[in-house]
Amino acid sequence: MESSIGTIGFIGAGNMAEAMIKSLLVRGYNGNIVASRRSVEQLERLNKTYEIETTTDNRKVAEQSDVVVFSVKPQSLDTVMEGLAGIHLGERLVLSIAAGKRTSYFEQKLGSQTRICRAMPNIGFFYGCGVSAYYLNGNCSENEEKNARYILEAGGPTYRVNESDMDVVTALSGSGPAFFSYFLSCMEEKAIKMGLQERVAHSLLTKTVEGTAEFLKANGLSYTEFIDKVASKGGTTEAGISFAKTNGIKEGISGIIDAAAKRSRELGLSGMNINQPLEIRCEKT
Ligand SMILES: NC(=O)c1ccc[n+]([C@@H]2O[C@H](COP(=O)([O-])OP(=O)(O)OC[C@H]3O[C@@H](n4cnc5c(N)ncnc54)[C@H](OP(=O)(O)O)[C@@H]3O)[C@@H](O)[C@H]2O)c1
Repeated sequence: MESSIGTIGFIGAGNMAEAMIKSLLVRGYNGNIVASRRSVEQLERLNKTYEIETTTDNRKVAEQSDVVVFSVKPQSLDTVMEGLAGIHLGERLVLSIAAGKRTSYFEQKLGSQTRICRAMPNIGFFYGCGVSAYYLNGNCSENEEKNARYILEAGGPTYRVNESDMDVVTALSGSGPAFFSYFLSCMEEKAIKMGLQERVAHSLLTKTVEGTAEFLKANGLSYTEFIDKVASKGGTTEAGISFAKTNGIKEGISGIIDAAAKRSRELGLSGMNINQPLEIRCEKT
């Protein structure tokens, strides 16, 4: 996959950054990648595994990259920003994947003219089956969008949304893999209590998830259409779904999404003037 981006820099080369680096390389990104974090040991591992440049110097990453990806935890951003004081990012694109952090945070810290993409990829990037949504601030042109999409599409389908949608996106696809895993761990725990071997329960569940995803993808069904298709009248599936419907499972799941989206909003408010309204400049496409 050809790209006009000379250098992509990652500040905070942890799990998600590594997944993005891997997806870029697998898709044939032919430019340079530079990544920073504090652990020299981990930087050496990344350097050996992916043959990319690594450094403990965040300023170097910011200065030499055409796209600067901020991939630290939201709570670490203030410290990172302090370390970048005085650097003028000029025409570079800032791509933040930090949960909750609004584009206005980066405008405050890096200057109101900064070109910013707030994105939410997910851990599926590691295996080329991720998904992302993003929002661009008003300083971005078509070229910035092309570059942001190049990086995000390396991991999977990519959707442009309003900034006000980013908290629910974070809850659905950013945190979603862990929510599904929690649901699966509950099923596994119950199966073990009912006498099934852990190894067998784990494999049954993993394969069931894979098969369900494949079926949904291949047939283009909605989730409810799928349930109608597989649940026969008076059968086991219908019995389980009926229990779910009458025992507050939907409310519980709604609560999970609310809690994650609320936390995303809270993370967005720390380190900035909380009286500032959420700015929405781009229309959904
Ligand atoms: N994990 C996901 O599934 C996922 C999905 C979507 C978005 N995100 C977002 O991606 C970001 C990173 O998440 P993650 O799961 O990848 O976390 P992570 O593995 O902890 O990665 C963050 C990295 O930042 C580095 N770091 C901390 N302070 C730093 C500093 N001052 N300068 C440079 N590097 C620093 C840490 O390494 P050192 O301690 O060695 O410095 C760490 O490896 C978060 O903002 C999260 O919201 C994550």
